[in-house]
Amino acid sequence: MVSVTNLLLCFLILSACEALKILVVYPVPSKSQSLLGEGVVRPLLKAGHEVTYITAFKYKNAPANLRQIDVSDNVNSFPSDQINLQKILANEVPTMKHGMVMFVMRGLQAQTFEYEHVQKFLSDPNEQFDVILSEWMMASLLAGLGPVFNAPFVWVTPMDVHSTVISMIDAAPNPAYTTDLLSARTFPFSFLDRVAELKYRVTEFAYDYMIHEPAETELYNKLIAPLIVKRGRKPPPYSEVRYNVSLVLGNSHISLGSTYSLPQNYIPIGGYHIDEKIEPLTKELKQLLESNNNGFIYFSMGSNLKSKDWPEEIKSGLLKMFGNLKQTVLWKFEEDLPNKPKNVHILKWAPQTSILSHPNCVAFITHGGLLSTTETVYAGVPIIGIPVFGDQPLNVKMAAHRGLGLGVKLSYTLVEDLKVAIEEMISNPRYKEKAKLLSSLYHDRPMKPADELVYWVEHVVRTRGAPHLRSPALLVPLYQRLYLDLAALVVFALIATLYLFRYLRKAISSKVDNDKKRN
Ligand SMILES: *[C@@H]1O[C@H](CO)[C@@H](O)[C@H](O)[C@H]1NC(C)=O
Repeated sequence: MVSVTNLLLCFLILSACEALKILVVYPVPSKSQSLLGEGVVRPLLKAGHEVTYITAFKYKNAPANLRQIDVSDNVNSFPSDQINLQKILANEVPTMKHGMVMFVMRGLQAQTFEYEHVQKFLSDPNEQFDVILSEWMMASLLAGLGPVFNAPFVWVTPMDVHSTVISMIDAAPNPAYTTDLLSARTFPFSFLDRVAELKYRVTEFAYDYMIHEPAETELYNKLIAPLIVKRGRKPPPYSEVRYNVSLVLGNSHISLGSTYSLPQNYIPIGGYHIDEKIEPLTKELKQLLESNNNGFIYFSMGSNLKSKDWPEEIKSGLLKMFGNLKQTVLWKFEEDLPNKPKNVHILKWAPQTSILSHPNCVAFITHGGLLSTTETVYAGVPIIGIPVFGDQPLNVKMAAHRGLGLGVKLSYTLVEDLKVAIEEMISNPRYKEKAKLLSSLYHDRPMKPADELVYWVEHVVRTRGAPHLRSPALLVPLYQRLYLDLAALVVFALIATLYLFRYLRKAISSKVDNDKKRN
């Protein structure tokens, strides 16, 4: 009996010792980012770790092992008014170029360090963490938290694999067959594609080298280095901190998109945000979805784009077109719509994964956000994508490329274009078949993605920053990677040989001349 109690006690002590102190940072005030943040926090809490969560969106029903630091004021410096369908349609919004996105994100990260309550938290020497996780969103300043707490640092990216994020942990991938997030190319590349991608990468590299990294360095020296000094350590240079992350946990999976070859410390955990306990549908909704033998189409433009911003003529055109379909249409829309046809139903809030998982779902009309495209692959439903901004064009292109669905351009002829796409999708079974195939790929993994997340975070702590996973490429300067030193040597040798030959020829011919003269 004693041994059993002892064992139990040992176990309790052991598990208490094993609870890690983890800092998770999600400062971007957008609903979909917060879903990803919660997707990180939830499994870590479940595994019994103590989590401190710096977030723009409160985690609801927080358990005792979660402490939250609220940075919801970040919403004030986020250009959310730019994410407006009407303005985007009318071309009133400058398309978010690489540099613009980086400028906004850099500012947002800096601001997160500036709040008084965050400064107080960061300056408190009693605050210690075993590991820090933060989302990587086009700026890397948050990596400075690693040296503040003298702890390993892990990025979690909200997007599919792309060249910028790989460049943080490895040599930049070859532009001849890999794409960046915003250039959004799918393989195979034509000659012009390859040239355009190269130009894009060179521009991006120049922007990062000349503007982004220097600006981040300045912010690091101003906002973060003093915190490290306060803790009695010498701040390492930012150029080292930026490229010293232990891992990147990527919101990607082979079933969702690109087939990049990945460095050892990039771990694809796409789908980790999906709670495996799929919420059952309400009785009413279930009845509605099962009332039509032709199935239903689910339509949602995500949580950032507001349906009310659809121009009137498109709204009424959509209603009329949907009214002529044999299927039920379930439209996630924030307001009530008058004059709805009988087969169209509005939901102000939709349990998306549960709806997509219903076997009667024949198609999903979506903006192509990565969370939505992941959930649709999870459930095996084909999509019609209407991409609007950010990574959505890439996600939709990728989906179309892989046969999972069709893309429709956001334009004033949307209603007609969408009608054509819906007809094609309903009459041609290949989309559904492909969706099922990708879904089986998605589920065919050794571990659930959320469990994988926990495993790798613990691995980083166990191995003190997982240095064994790092790519040696980061330590090799670009000129060496491109063998420019060898090229220089070869050119030098050629020129030297040429000169030598010339010299010898001259010497010989003058000797011959001399000899002739003497004779
Ligand atoms: C880099 O990370 C490792 C492990 O996380 C840490 O021990 C080291 O001090 C870091 N170096 C710098 C320059 O931040």
